[in-house]
Amino acid sequence: MDLFEYQARDVFERHGVPVLRGVVATTPQEARDAAEQLGGGVVVVKAQVKTGGRGKAGGVKVAKGPEEAQAHAEAILGMDIKGHTVHRVMVAEGASIAEEYYFSILLDRSERRYLAMASVEGGVEIEQLAVERPEALARVAVDPRTGVDRAKAEEIADAAGFGADVREQAVEAFQKLWTVYREEDATLVEVNPLVRTESGDVIALDGKVTLDENAAFRHEDHAQLEDAEAADPLEAKAKAKGLNYVKLDGEVGIIGNGAGLVMSTLDVVAYAGEAHGVKPANFLDIGGGASAQVMADGLDVILGDDQVRSVFVNVFGGITSCDAVANGIVSALQMLGDSATKPLVVRLDGNNVVEGRRILDEAAHPLVTLVDTMDGAAAKAAELAAAK
Ligand SMILES: Nc1ncnc2c1ncn2[C@@H]1O[C@H](COP(=O)(O)OP(=O)(O)O)[C@@H](O)[C@H]1O
Ligand SMILES: [Mg+2]
Repeated sequence: MDLFEYQARDVFERHGVPVLRGVVATTPQEARDAAEQLGGGVVVVKAQVKTGGRGKAGGVKVAKGPEEAQAHAEAILGMDIKGHTVHRVMVAEGASIAEEYYFSILLDRSERRYLAMASVEGGVEIEQLAVERPEALARVAVDPRTGVDRAKAEEIADAAGFGADVREQAVEAFQKLWTVYREEDATLVEVNPLVRTESGDVIALDGKVTLDENAAFRHEDHAQLEDAEAADPLEAKAKAKGLNYVKLDGEVGIIGNGAGLVMSTLDVVAYAGEAHGVKPANFLDIGGGASAQVMADGLDVILGDDQVRSVFVNVFGGITSCDAVANGIVSALQMLGDSATKPLVVRLDGNNVVEGRRILDEAAHPLVTLVDTMDGAAAKAAELAAAK
């Protein structure tokens, strides 16, 4: 999960990274009040969208005082930056910048460790610097067991060529940013720019933080950082029910057990759908224990997708045998009652398949078609989606 800059700022502050004060505003009037609250002096009005290059796009503007802050907020709120609509701004204290630096820590999957990057030429687009003058961007491997301790922070500062006047402050900041990275279970912490102000302080003026959702169980407070507005409503509903669901742009709803099976089902449906001009509508893995409730929840989410015109239930009975799954489907359809309106193609195989198929045959639900093979079922589901 990526954080907004204002959220990153808050996290930085909590871990002792030097930042400036910032207040979030959703209307021009609020921006004016925020500037007032910050002392009435120079502030910077910053678009809060989860993409870089806000400055270049006109989403970061200096204001001399509250009045100008209001005017800038007026212009920035509602702006589109690389496909992201600006719903809020952060009014931040203005810094007098002497120099702009770059610092980041990220997960280096291929090397199975972390990587710190730093440059005394920050502020600009770092991707461009990395390509044009790679020597200006220091890359220092970080051992996960020791992290960025003082020695490592000094190594990074020296590799990047931080001057003697700021070296100590930079070293302190790197260690604090490492604390953010480790304690929040981040996969990315990036500060661009980290600045030296005219008065000689080193401060993080921008922050990009990506949190590792696999570690969410360790961080109850991370849930509130989620951007509920941006989430797809069906995905949000599925998440609330604990389902592993991803909305796609097609007509054939898909339910399967096990991520691998569901992914192959997407492929098979995509292939079968070519002849009918239809595509998979979603990824949904109901996992190992396909209980009636889980099946009902899954169907409920998929049927809530207006684009869906048929549903392919592809289950391989393992620990949960096919008869249990078949009963799950039958009860799920009972639970859903009239809200189940679209044809279901069911393919069952594996543990206790004969009994599973018998249960479905006996129930003879008018919406359900039983097909024995995966290819056959995909073709049938695609055909039904195209027919309606
Ligand atoms: N609080 C601030 N005070 C003064 N200048 C700022 C402040 N915040 C940002 N800036 C300036 O605006 C530039 C762009 O802002 P930044 O937050 O890095 O957004 P982005 O990276 O999305 O363009 C920075 O490089 C810096 O020069
Ligand atoms: Mg930046």
